[in-house]
Amino acid sequence: MSRKYSIAVIPGDGIGPEITSAAVEVLEAAASKRGIEIFTKELKAGGAAIDACGVPLPQETIFAAKDSDAVLLGAVGGPQWDSLDPELRPEKALLGLRSGLGLYANIRPVIVYDELEAASPLKNPGKIDFVIVRELTGGIYFGKNGVYSSGDRLPDGTVKGKIAFDTEVYSEGEINRILKIAFELAMKRRKKLTLVDKANVLVSSRLWRTLASQMCFDYPEVEFETLYIDNCAMQLISRPSTFDVIVTSNLFGDILSDEAGQIAGSIGMLPSASIGTPGTPGLYEPVHGSAPDIAGQNKANPLGTILSAAMMMRNAFGEDEVANDIEKAVKKTLGSRLRTGDITFVGDYNNTKLVGTKEIAQAVISNL
Ligand code: IPM
Ligand code: MG
Repeated sequence: MSRKYSIAVIPGDGIGPEITSAAVEVLEAAASKRGIEIFTKELKAGGAAIDACGVPLPQETIFAAKDSDAVLLGAVGGPQWDSLDPELRPEKALLGLRSGLGLYANIRPVIVYDELEAASPLKNPGKIDFVIVRELTGGIYFGKNGVYSSGDRLPDGTVKGKIAFDTEVYSEGEINRILKIAFELAMKRRKKLTLVDKANVLVSSRLWRTLASQMCFDYPEVEFETLYIDNCAMQLISRPSTFDVIVTSNLFGDILSDEAGQIAGSIGMLPSASIGTPGTPGLYEPVHGSAPDIAGQNKANPLGTILSAAMMMRNAFGEDEVANDIEKAVKKTLGSRLRTGDITFVGDYNNTKLVGTKEIAQAVISNL
């Protein structure tokens, strides 16, 4: 009996539709080579859903996503929806999916492929291979927020001007479960873990530190270090190859993963997996956004999404062979010197061939 998986595909906005359709083609080809059947169902979220049904995350999308084996997402957002009420912005769809599916752990691997070393702005970056484990359903993204208009009463007096606030809030349970994911991952890798926080200023960071130093005792083999976020931003540039697993809060993880994207040559290369409790479908998406400036022009790099599909095969279904096939085909494609615009680079430019989204995806398929 052949194995079958049902995948909810959420193309979203901007370059989302192009990159997801490229990734689905690669996935279907790779799966069928290994006798696996893939069923896809397309769902709406983000600006596309706002335009079609007035809300960024229709109930039907949440239900169908929960009903699938895994979710593949492109990207959401775009300037035409920027002036909407915050509750109705496309980004709300992504946050709603993450919290609605309970996807508290965001795994963002960062590799600099030998073939793309020249695309990294770092000189002699060395062998870079680390993973950012970002907490995804808590912290300042989901803490209490609001705006007081001038004249509103606060508990301690009257506000003179407008006041806006967001709250960084973390419970022991939320911190421990993400730390556990990170320690376990470190055990499967080079056994190094870096906790990134701002414990010199933030009370919530100090709770992360306390809990991490307690959990260390359960993982005596893991070499554990702590870094303040500002220092880590610098260390990632000065000694990127020394990092193995980085664990951090929602906001710090968001920031560091864009920095990591640049280190890797292009954020267009980075995949991610968002996972929750076993049994709930995970969400697989590239780290980059919807890039409205190049949308619909066959210019986007689909490799981050294709690599996210590989992560799905491995993490969600244990289909390591398919995942390895896809990853090898991506490497081979880079080796054949095909490049989308974001990964062409000066110096080696003459030796590479600039191609579009569709062409690079087709090359990955032929290299399977
Ligand atoms: C990401 C993105 C999202 C985030 C945005 C689009 C809400 O930047 O996945 O990194 O901040 O989490
Ligand atoms: Mg981000």
